[in-house]
Parts: sequence; structure tokens; C-alpha cells
Amino acid sequence: MNVMQPVDRVRGAVHDKERHESGHKHVSGTAEYIDDIPEPAGTLHGYLGLSQRAHAEILSVDFEAVRNSPGVVGVLTAEDIPGENDISPAHKHDDPVFAAGKVEFHGQPIFAVIATSREAARRAAAKVKIDYRDLPHVTDVLEAAAANYPLVIDPLKLERGDIDAGFAQAKNTVSGEMRIGGQDHFYLEGQISFAIPGEDDEVTVFSSTQHPSETQLMVAHVLGVPSNAVTVNVRRMGGGFGGKETQANLFAAVAAVAARKYRRAIKVRPDRDDDMTATGKRHDFHVDYKVGFDDDGRIEAVDAVFAARCGFSADLSGPVTDRALFHADNCYFYPNVRLRSRPLKTNTVSNTAFRGFGGPQGMVGGERMIEDVAYALGKDPLEIRKLNFYGGEGRNLTPYHQTVEDNIIGRIIEELEVSSDYAARRQAAIAFNRESPVIKRGIALTPVKFGISFTKTEYNQAGALVHVYTDGSIQLNHGGTEMGQGLYTKVAQVVADEFQVDLDHIKVTATSTGKVPNTSATAASSGSDLNGMAAANACQQIKERLVRFAAERYGVGEADIAFEPNTVRIGAERIAFADLIKAAYAARVQLSAAGFYKTPKIHWSRAEGRGRPFYYFAYGASCSEVSVDTLTGEYQVERTDIIHDVGKSLNPALDLGQVEGAFVQGMGWLTTEELWWDAKGRLRTHAPSTYKIPLASDRPRVFNVRLAEWSINREETIRRSKAVGEPPFMLGISVLEAISMAAASVADYRIPPRIDAPATPERVLMAVERLRAARAAGRDDRAAKIVDD
Ligand code: MTE
Ligand code: HPA
Ligand code: MOS
Repeated sequence: MNVMQPVDRVRGAVHDKERHESGHKHVSGTAEYIDDIPEPAGTLHGYLGLSQRAHAEILSVDFEAVRNSPGVVGVLTAEDIPGENDISPAHKHDDPVFAAGKVEFHGQPIFAVIATSREAARRAAAKVKIDYRDLPHVTDVLEAAAANYPLVIDPLKLERGDIDAGFAQAKNTVSGEMRIGGQDHFYLEGQISFAIPGEDDEVTVFSSTQHPSETQLMVAHVLGVPSNAVTVNVRRMGGGFGGKETQANLFAAVAAVAARKYRRAIKVRPDRDDDMTATGKRHDFHVDYKVGFDDDGRIEAVDAVFAARCGFSADLSGPVTDRALFHADNCYFYPNVRLRSRPLKTNTVSNTAFRGFGGPQGMVGGERMIEDVAYALGKDPLEIRKLNFYGGEGRNLTPYHQTVEDNIIGRIIEELEVSSDYAARRQAAIAFNRESPVIKRGIALTPVKFGISFTKTEYNQAGALVHVYTDGSIQLNHGGTEMGQGLYTKVAQVVADEFQVDLDHIKVTATSTGKVPNTSATAASSGSDLNGMAAANACQQIKERLVRFAAERYGVGEADIAFEPNTVRIGAERIAFADLIKAAYAARVQLSAAGFYKTPKIHWSRAEGRGRPFYYFAYGASCSEVSVDTLTGEYQVERTDIIHDVGKSLNPALDLGQVEGAFVQGMGWLTTEELWWDAKGRLRTHAPSTYKIPLASDRPRVFNVRLAEWSINREETIRRSKAVGEPPFMLGISVLEAISMAAASVADYRIPPRIDAPATPERVLMAVERLRAARAAGRDDRAAKIVDD
């Protein structure tokens, strides 16, 4: 046995600020995305032909010009699908790969052209002649409700207490409505799939998907073959943000059907305009609310209906609208409450998962109610927020009857108020607004509480596969997918920590349905919670075998064996990790293990609206200050301060990146990103020229982001960390509220400004005009109260 000197700690273990495993490859252009995979000889390219009507019967389709176009090999329609023409993730048979007989939204795929180059396929697709008979269509939520359009799925109701009694006893009530816009994912790498046919019925699909197992199932279903014939691989995505949880399946299915038919490798990649037109986005919502409260602003009753534009099919609209209701309370206790969802069908692309998964829309609705209460009473919204936080006797029960047990919002807010100097800056903004006729300032401090777990309990499971090779190097595979969030790095850190070896001994390989089966989507922010635990479980199995072996071989008790940095201590001696592995191999010890994890404690009955859908909550808060030009409606975020809770961080560098990125994405959603459909049901904002995501120059001029370093998950999550992917998205709400305050200043902060989201400069300008007019109209009777600006 070698005698080795122990080192302090391994490089890149859990809690280290390790860089993203591919960061250097992302910036140097060497990270391999699907479009970079070398193409086998004879690779063909597919391009989708999209509907030019919002709702119509297809009377006839003439492909002659398409087929005669240069480079065209063939055309695929619904008739070429060997299995079922459906990729509905809700298993509702309402999501055809290719529309047959009728189209239900402008941009719906009807066929695909297969050609020798992508350009040839794209040009050919445009030459189709289709005869339509138009049917009436609706694109908007309220129009859909008025036209009695169906719901795409059963609605949810959350109810607690007695709202009639609550409203009867409340001294004040306000009711209102709000529109909340959708959002395009704008992943940098668009949708793409590359299918290679194999022997017999086999096919291998490289897909930019967050959900390889479902892509596998959908491809099998569409081909009419069992899942065991289909392998789906994904090394990384250039961003997913929820937009590749189900939306990747279409491209995978088309590529696989073509690969099977032509027995050639097929790649399908839409251009940006078609990607934006043909794939689902964040749901836009209409919220109708009524809130009862006392003179201090303490909420007594809430009644709200959340209607969502779901598009033409169910997709994930059920769980998305459910999650909206789960977050309408945010951090606030509602003594009497009724929340209802209305997942409405519309003749638009089927909306889907997007970071926060309905939670942000629910939370914006809840925060709008807080704003209304504050402006109705002439108080600082932060005061109303604090008054209504969960906490105290009988004030911890959510509308879905889960008790909030891990509430740390009070401490986060307290710390952020101090570090952002909120009170003084609010006073300074009010003083500034009194003197400044055109530029107005606003500041807002808003909290976030986000529930972690898939609400569909069965999704909360994961698997991992760990191999230790005889040279001591380790290969790690798990069911999670890498989309830039750093999951591969974090799970590798867990493995480094378990075996106590340096991170560079571990290689994470591409996610593959052939290695870890039946995985859940990498979604609901649960990637590291689930896969980290599954990987740890695999390592523990191997470690147990190694310990048993070493105890026997070296004649020491199992308790005297420990994995120390890059060595194993056996009694009083130390042996290099790789040497122990060699010895174990020689003794025929199995050095590979499949790990598994399922989240404990959670349960949920949708029918009863009761349970514990979430294992725990992640918290955070942000304070943003803006200046608004009241002549143009333009604004600038001057400063944002954030404190965000990730429990005990697995990797503070990656977590900070997630918090910053999510905040900016949330801010973009609520300010400049606007989706607009014309009267014909055409999405007219389908490129960066018409759809404005935040630029580097839009980020807050001063941006102070901190993790709540003292936080630790009270539940036994992987190394007591918390999920980070989605919760900080909702920190962007402080920007919307700060803009509200700046607008409210023109009417002495006494009229709720009620700016719909996104608060584009046009909307801000219109709100300012509306508030000025309202103030002028109220001048006579309220003259005594009004301070002139
Ligand atoms: N970060 C990057 N860079 N790219 C992404 O696509 N997706 C977000 C979030 N952070 C995303 C991201 C979404 S919607 C989710 S659900 C989580 O990452 C998923 O990964 P996780 O569960 O490993 O956090
Ligand atoms: N979040 C994200 N994706 C999901 C969920 C969820 O709660 N449920 C099903 N897919
Ligand atoms: Mo994230 S919306 O759960 O993919």
C-alpha cells in the first residue's frame, strides 16, 4: 500500500465557484451544437411548409411546383406518417405533426419538403399552392371567451376560507383587470433535429430537446415502432428556457419520418422567422380580480380568474395555468381566497413552457393587487407587502392548503431594504418628481416565492449512470439536459465530492435515452435537485462496494475507510484513488452503477385542489429604480439590487449567472418584448427587427446581485442547495412596479396606474396621459389634497 500525503480539498467540489464546463467552448466557438455535427454522405434537409390561414379547411394542395423545384427529393404530408399523426404531450390527440384537412393557426405545419440542401428545401416549400376555405378565428383571450371557445383542458380552482364572508367584512374592495403578454423564448440556437436511420426499425435522433425521453416516445409513436428502437441524444442546447420541453418533438418527428422513408440522414432546422411563428411561447393572460382589505391594507379576501391564451391545442397549458394559480399568492397570506383558471383555446400557436411556467403570470397578477391596494390607500406598496407576508399564527396556509414552513422572505427583504437604501431612495425619488416636470423616477422592492417540484408528482424522479474506469477516470451520465444553465457542471461537482476526486477526473457525456431511460424533462428548475441526487446515489453504490472490498482486502473495519481528497484512507494508511480502483477491478468488483432518486414528501390532488405540490420554496427579492421620460414613455433602469436564495449554493458562480440572466429575461418580458398578431391571425413580431429582447445596454446601470449566503435548505436536497433556474425570473417584476410608480407620480400616487404588461414605451406614455387626465378631472373635489408639480 502506498503512503500518500493528504491534500486539503479536491478541485471543483460542491460549493466551489467552478466555471461552466463548456464556458470556454461557448466563447471560442468550439462547443458542438447539432448543426455542427459532421454530416454523413448523402444527408438531406427538411423544411416545413406552414399554413397561411388562422383557421380554415384545406380544400386542395398542389405540390407540382414544389416537386419541380431544384434539389427536391420529396414531400412529406400526414399521409406519410407510418404511426399516429400526433405529438400531443398531454396525450390528447390534438397536436398533429402535419395538419390534415384543416388548419387551426397561421403558421401550422402542413407538409415538409426534403431536398439536397436546406436552402433548396426552403425555397421549394414556398412554391406550394393551397386552396383554403376560411373559418372564423379568434386569436385573443377575451375574444375567445366571448365566442364561447372551448377550454383546452379542465380548469383548476383553488379555494380556502369563505370569500363571501371575507368580502362582506372587508372595509374596502378594489376590482380590476390586467393583461399580461406572452414571450418568445429567443434561444440562440433555434429548434433543430438530425435523424440517422439504423438497421431494421432503428433510428438515432440528435435533438435540441429538454426532454429526450418524451422526444423518444413521440418519435416512436409517429413511426409506429416501440421506444426501444429509438435513441435520442443531446449534448447541449444553445438555450431552451422551456421552449424545447415539448416544441422540439415536431422537428424530431419530421426528421425521423423522413429518415425512415428515404433511408438517409435528415436534418430539419427552421429559420428564425419560422421558428418564432411555428413554435409555442409563454402564455399571455388576462386576469380579472377583486381584493378586499382593511384600512391598513391587510388583505381579507381575494377572488381572481386567470384566463390564458393556450393556442390551438392543450400542450402543457394545464400545468402552466395551474402553476399560475399556485403563484398568485406570491409571499402573501390570503385569509379567504378563490382562484380559478381558464385555459382557453385560440387560433394561435399552442403556447408552452417558459421559465417560470405560468408562475410569473400568476405572481404579476398578485402583485398588481398589492399595487392597487397601496395606491388606493396612498401608501408605499412595500408597506402593504410586508403587512401581508406569510407568517404568524394561522397565517401560513397557501390557497392550495400547503403550509409554508420555510419562510425566509422577511429576512431577505430586511437585508435588501438596507443594502439598497430603499427608504431614503424612495423619498429622494418623490422629492425629485416634485421638481422634475418631464423625467419621473420610480422605485420598487418586490419579493419572490417560487414552489419547487413538478406539480405532476410522477415527474419528480431521476436516474444517473456512473462508470469508474480502471485508470481511475470517471464517466457520468444522467437524465438531465444541458442548456447553458450549468447542470452538467453541478452534477459533476457532486460526483467529485462523493468520490473526493478533482473535477477534471470526471467526464459528463451527452444525455441519451440509451443510457438513462424514462427521464423527466429538464424543467421546473429541478435539474440539479433530481439528477444531483441520482448521481450521488450511483456514486454511493460504488463507494459501498469499494469500502466492502477494501475492508476485506486490507483487514480494517469499514468505518475506518474514508474517501479523502484524491486518496482513500484505509485504517492508518492512504492509497491513491486510482490504485484502489485497479485493485478492486482485479478482485472483480463492479465499478459501474445506475443511481435513482425520487423527491419525498410531495403529493397533490388536482380534483380537490389540495396537497403539498412543492417540496420547498425558493425566495428572493429585487429593488429596481427607473427613470421615465413622460413625453415619450421611454425608460431606463438606473439601478437594481437583488438578494436571492439558492440555499447552500452548489456553485455560486453559476448561480449568480442564473440570477442575473433570469432577472434580465424577466425584465425583458415585462417591458419591451411584445408579441402581436394581426387581424388575420398572423404573428407579425417574428424576428429581432420587430421583437425586442433586452440588449446589453438595457441592463441596469448599477446592478448589485448577491446570493443569500446564510440560507440553507431545511429539506434534505442535494447538499442543502435550492433550485435556481426559474425563481429569479420573477425578480424582473420590480422593474414593472418601478415604472408604475414613476407613472403614478403624475397623479400624486393616488390613482393605480394599471399598466398592462409588457410596459412598452407606448403603454407607459398612454398610462401617463390617462393618469394626468384623471388627475385633472379630479382636481376640483380633491384640490385640497393635490400638491402641484
Ligand atoms: N439558463 C440558461 N442559460 N439557458 C436556459 O435555457 N432555462 C431555464 C433555467 N435556466 C435556461 C436557463 C429554465 S426554463 C429551467 S426550467 C432551468 O434552467 C432548467 O435547468 P435546471 O433545472 O437544471 O435549473
Ligand atoms: N414545470 C415545468 N415543466 C413542467 C411542469 C412544471 O411544473 N410540469 C410539467 N412540465
Ligand atoms: Mo423550464 S419553463 O421548466 O423549462
